[in-house]
Amino acid sequence: LNYLTPKSRQEVLDLLVTGLKRLEYRGYDSTGVAIDSPDNKNIVMVKRTGKVKVLEDAIQELFSGSEYSDPVMTHVGIAHTRWATHGVPCERNSHPHRSDDTNAFVVVHNGIITNYNDVKTFLAKRGYEFESDTDTEVFAKLVHHLWKKHPNYSFRELVEQAILQVEGAFAIAVKSKYFPGECVASRRSSPLLVGIKTKTRLATDHIPILYGKDVDSGKPQVLPRSDSTSEFMPLEEKEVEYFFASDASAVIEHTNRVIYLEDDDVAAVRDGTLSIHRLKKSLDDPHAREITTLKMEIQQIMKGNYDYFMQKEIFEQPDSVVNTMRGRVRFDGNAIVLGGIKDYIPEIKRCRRLMLIGCGTSYHSAVATRQLLEELTELPVMVELASDFLDRNTPIFRDDVCFFISQSGETADTLMALRYCKQRGALIVGITNTVGSSICRESHCGVHINAGPEIGVASTKAYTSQFISLVMFALVMSEDRLSLQTRRLEILQALSKLADQIREVLKLDSKVQELAKDLYQHKSLLIMGRGYNFATCLEGALKVKELTYMHSEGIMAGELKHGPLALVDDSMPVLMIVLRDPVYVKCMNALQQVTSRKGCPVIICEEGDEETKAFSSRHLEIPRTVDCLQGILTVIPMQLLSYHIAVLRGCDVDCPRNLAKSVTVE
Ligand code: G6P
Repeated sequence: LNYLTPKSRQEVLDLLVTGLKRLEYRGYDSTGVAIDSPDNKNIVMVKRTGKVKVLEDAIQELFSGSEYSDPVMTHVGIAHTRWATHGVPCERNSHPHRSDDTNAFVVVHNGIITNYNDVKTFLAKRGYEFESDTDTEVFAKLVHHLWKKHPNYSFRELVEQAILQVEGAFAIAVKSKYFPGECVASRRSSPLLVGIKTKTRLATDHIPILYGKDVDSGKPQVLPRSDSTSEFMPLEEKEVEYFFASDASAVIEHTNRVIYLEDDDVAAVRDGTLSIHRLKKSLDDPHAREITTLKMEIQQIMKGNYDYFMQKEIFEQPDSVVNTMRGRVRFDGNAIVLGGIKDYIPEIKRCRRLMLIGCGTSYHSAVATRQLLEELTELPVMVELASDFLDRNTPIFRDDVCFFISQSGETADTLMALRYCKQRGALIVGITNTVGSSICRESHCGVHINAGPEIGVASTKAYTSQFISLVMFALVMSEDRLSLQTRRLEILQALSKLADQIREVLKLDSKVQELAKDLYQHKSLLIMGRGYNFATCLEGALKVKELTYMHSEGIMAGELKHGPLALVDDSMPVLMIVLRDPVYVKCMNALQQVTSRKGCPVIICEEGDEETKAFSSRHLEIPRTVDCLQGILTVIPMQLLSYHIAVLRGCDVDCPRNLAKSVTVE
């Protein structure tokens, strides 16, 4: 929003497009922008599928040399780059979304509106026709509906009422042709900040919050008018430019003064004045939002404070696992709903067996959850590498349920295996991180793991999110099994603590780095474990191979005596996972076999487990969780270790040699 100096719409568009480029690492499926028409009476939108560059070219073609280059004083534009969570990437599904064909209200949104189906049904009954498959569109139409009902409401009040009706996670910015020069933004569980640029230094370092009276947030039909205490006051800068953005990277080249909004803040800009509102005030709410001065450099931003995308993605895991569970797991009611497969659950329960098929890391997520799936579904579970599954012409039957696990949703082997099973009449379930991908489109039903874009070639956060998606599936399958309720409860409770425990594990980073210094010049690393942690051994060894080009092997500790023990001597680096779970005694046995061959393993064990620690001077302690989720906590030190070894060996962490993120050839 510009009230600072005369600027042409062309310049505003440039600014928006540059902002999108800075955010492109977060989403790259499709893009869009909305600005005022030259007469200020309408809103013009441009949307494109693909990268921001495609949008930039389209804007260049459509607007350059026209009246869009005339300077104007006040203007508001919104823009978005999308990474699909609902609906395939295409122009129709890209943001901004609009209330009607006159573009009366337009909206950009990050996050997920979980009750969008209810809102959609409500609005459809009132004559609204939907043009996209997104959850976002309901928001634009809801604001429009409220505007028709309450013609006296301010723009901010309309948005305020609309957010009372939606559930889920969002950061949202709304623009309207009825309120030119204004913009309203709000957030709940998704990041949103306001950047402020002024000619002179700001006179204040905070913005007071305006509280409205508590309003009954009934169903969409009941929309009582809010009774906010005051209209506008706050930041009365007349020469000012405001930026709403989900990430500081989009604004840092314009200003380093930002306010981080909190959940349910509604920020409105009108006539150059920014005000922040909240409908409810609780006792400990502050009176103001502080203006923070950012100290970041542009180059830092894309990867945040991280050196590599992979490192960033490892550290994102406390959030990405929550995103996977968001809107699906209700910890209070111990209920789990997987919207993408719920209608198929009765059919799945009647199946002959479950087949889990994938490649690389995705295959490991199947290995990691197999035992729990067997336990909670009481069905035979087969875990297959897609390539080998095809090589064997594996028999498949109509009453098989086949899961295809793939971060990209495009891996050729996995896709071929999917088609093979589909042809034979099996039910196809996709577990992917990429909405609209081939695996997604060709599945009968599925679960989007919602881990967010993964850019590093070596998969990290997608693995933990695939893992959790399969755990959630196991929990859904056992919902009505009385004998399994105690177990389910134990797992649900553990899931609720997982994000914090991952944060704890990530604190091991410097210790892991020290360990990497000991190991990086070696030729080989053996990683041993069994039971729930065997998958971590395989995945850890894969990470080491991919990233560091060192030889590494994930060894099933039960097989030690049958060969691998011959590799052990006083110089062979060994890492062992020994946790207090049902295979503890057997793991201790393996540990003793290794130490008695002069091996000096690094041990991953539970916090405070002195007895196990006594076997080695080098150990990494992780918090205790339920056995079937340990694999999430044990894999993180392995991700960190491979990362640090790769850095020490001077390898290209984000793009290891000879490998590709998405392998679309067999
Ligand atoms: C490639 C990547 C791996 C990934 C595997 C499967 O080999 O380098 O990181 O695990 O493909 O990819 P998908 O997208 O199907 O999970």
